[in-house]
Parts: sequence; structure tokens; C-alpha cells
Amino acid sequence: MMTRRIGLSLGADLCWPVCYEEILERWAPQLEIGGEQVRFEVSRLDIEPFDLKQACPYDVVLDRLTHWYHTSREWIKKSVVMDDLYVLNNPWTLQSMEKQTTYCAMMDLGLPVPDTWMLPPKEYEPVPDLEHTLERYAKLFDLEEVGAKVGYPHFMKPYDGGAWVAVTRIENPEQLKTAYDNSGRRIMHLQQAIEPFDLFVRCLGIGPDVRFIRYDPTAPLHERYQTDTDFLTSEEKSLLRDMTLTINSFFGWDFNSCEVIRKDGVFYPIDFANACPDSQVTSLHYHFPWLVKTMLQWSIFCAATNRPMRTNLDWHRYHAIRDEKLTYRESLSAYADIARQNFDFDQFEEFRRSHLGGLDEVTWTYFGEPRAKEVIRAKVETLFPDDEHDEFTELFWEHIQAWRRNESS
Ligand SMILES: Nc1ncnc2c1ncn2[C@@H]1O[C@H](COP(=O)(O)OP(=O)(O)O)[C@@H](O)[C@H]1O
Ligand SMILES: [Mg+2]
Repeated sequence: MMTRRIGLSLGADLCWPVCYEEILERWAPQLEIGGEQVRFEVSRLDIEPFDLKQACPYDVVLDRLTHWYHTSREWIKKSVVMDDLYVLNNPWTLQSMEKQTTYCAMMDLGLPVPDTWMLPPKEYEPVPDLEHTLERYAKLFDLEEVGAKVGYPHFMKPYDGGAWVAVTRIENPEQLKTAYDNSGRRIMHLQQAIEPFDLFVRCLGIGPDVRFIRYDPTAPLHERYQTDTDFLTSEEKSLLRDMTLTINSFFGWDFNSCEVIRKDGVFYPIDFANACPDSQVTSLHYHFPWLVKTMLQWSIFCAATNRPMRTNLDWHRYHAIRDEKLTYRESLSAYADIARQNFDFDQFEEFRRSHLGGLDEVTWTYFGEPRAKEVIRAKVETLFPDDEHDEFTELFWEHIQAWRRNESS
């Protein structure tokens, strides 16, 4: 009997890890892989001093800390370099590829990223070389001129943004000036607004699997993720799946959310450097069981098959397709073919069929039990005032029961 170990590298995440652990414990799969019996164990990573040569006890780590907690990130990178750890997501790519880089790379592949400019920051941290550098090289520029080139309305947002911080919708030169004056040391983009749009979709990718979630950015937080699932044609689904898989494979992300806006029939990707996507039951509710189940499927697959970390992103393969000058749809399909290879699409589907069947039932049952409701409540208690705990626990619980009804019908 072999044991494969999965580690969870966590910060504030409360709900999905508990569900992940408890469902895995109940399901307790013993899979026959290459003639051997394989079982799985999950535990959480602690933060402590480490010897650079100490062995890594995990085969796979699901990491939610890398983008801000550097000790864990460096432990993970050490374990990839020295111990063949498979980690989701690739920490090097998170360190180096901000929103800005993702815009550039996907514009270059022909995706309809809205027109975007980058501005030098309004203010600077005083460092010894600052004066000289700015005196010699920082050109005075006319902000209004840049604003006019991007056109109105547009969005000012941080080049490395996330979580909707410092995002401003701008309608005229006065607002632009005020927003820039208030931007401090942040490096900002100005991006053409895609308005009015008739659909906003978050495409949540886990390995080769993608879920489409309709999103209403104007709704209160608990209602932004919509619960209907029938809002895309099959061609649109195919396009968005190809787009999401291309992005995720290009940047080495197994878990990422790609935000797209549809206007006049065109899907514009506006924010797709989200490699630590919102995974809270209080946001995802109806879609939350899918997230937990798919995370289990993909991580068990990675652990069972000793999946090697893809340490080289091989961008030349996409660029070779770009250079063939195909139509947009044709090149997107061809990029997505690379992505499907990278994510072992066929092998994963086969693995799901032959090994993971039992998980559906366990997940479905778990999310109908009082224990699941407790987990929802624990999360609700961290976000809502005391007198709203019952109401919101009930609301998210009901959404999840709707998911169960739809799964069994
Ligand atoms: N180009 C755009 N056109 C229309 N709406 C946009 C555009 N850029 C941003 N927004 C709006 O602002 C929100 C936050 O911007 P986004 O790029 O997603 O930043 P963050 O990385 O902080 O999530 C989006 O969810 C959307 O509602
Ligand atoms: Mg966003």
C-alpha cells in the first residue's frame, strides 16, 4: 500500500479546506494505480523555520498563500526544486506575471483585451537614485492626452490589481486628474471600458475543467455569483473554455478565474490574473460543491499519477501558432489544444471515469448534512453581523440544496 500526501497551504480560507478534508476522509479512496494500491492523506502546512535540505513530506500542495506570504512560498519553491513537489499554482509565475503581463501576452496571441495604457506613478518611495533618474528620464506628460487616446469612459486600475482595490470608472478629464492625483505610489492602467455589456462571466478553471458562472458586478457581494447555468450557447462555451484553458496553460496556472465581458457578441477578457480565486462559500454558494469536488478530483489525479511540475512554459509553441496567421477562432482552438495536452485532458477524463466515480455520491450526500451547514455558518459568522447569521446561513444552504437537486435530476 502506497500513501500519497496532499498538503494545504492556507491563510484565511475557512470553508473549502474543511469540506475538502472531510469529504476525502469519508470517501477514503484506495485506487489501483500501475498495479499498486494507493491511498491519500491530507494535512495542513505549518509555518516554521526549515533547513534547506530537509525533505518535503508532500506529493502535492494546494497553495493559497504564495502571493503574499513569502516564507511559505520559498518553502514551496525549494520543494519543487529539490523534492519534485507538484504545487498548484506555480509560484514563480505568480511572482512574475501580474495583470499587466497577462494583458500583453494575450493581446499578442490575438485575444480581444481592451485597449490599455500604463502610466508612471504619481508619487515615489524616496530611494537614493530617484532624483537623478527622474530628472534625466521622466518626461513630463499630458495626462489628458493619454485619457483622450484611451477614450471615455475608461477604468483606472492597478497594473498588478486584485480584489477590486483602487479601481475607478472615469468619465471625463477632471475625474481622470483627480484619480491620478489620488493614486499615490501605485502604477496604474487606464483601460477602455467595455460598456454597455450584456453579460459578465467568471470562468473558473481547475486543471482541464472549467465552470462558467454568470456574474453581476453591481449586486451586493453575496449575490454577485448568479445561480443560473443556462446562459451561453454551446459555441460560446467552447470559445470561453478554449480561452480559459489557453490562459491557464500559458501562465502555468491550474487554478485561475478568467473574467470576460460580452459586448456586441464579442467576449473581452478584462481580468484573468486571478490565480488565487475567490473560493468562499459566501461568494460561490451554488457553485461551491463543484469547486470542492473538482479540486479533489484534480489534486487526487496529480497525486495518484505523480504528476511532474511543468517548470517550462514553452511559449514558443503558442507563438508558432500566432505566426500562422489563422483566424482568431482557429488560433484559439490551436492554443487550447496545447493547453489540453499540458493539462492531460484525456488522461484526466479517463481517470475520473475509472477511479473517481464514488466521489460524486459522497460529495452530494455531504452537502445535504447538518455538518455542511455548520461549515457554512462558521464562514458566515466571520463576515456578517450577529443578527444576520441565521438568514445568510439559510440563504447559502438553500443555494447548495438547489445544486443538489439539479445534480440528482
Ligand atoms: N475594461 C473594463 N470594462 C468594463 N468594466 C470593467 C473594465 N475593467 C474593470 N471593470 C470593472 O471593474 C471591476 C474590477 O476590475 P478588475 O480588472 O476585475 O480588477 P480586480 O483585479 O481588482 O478584480 C470588474 O469586475 C468590472 O466590473
Ligand atoms: Mg476582477
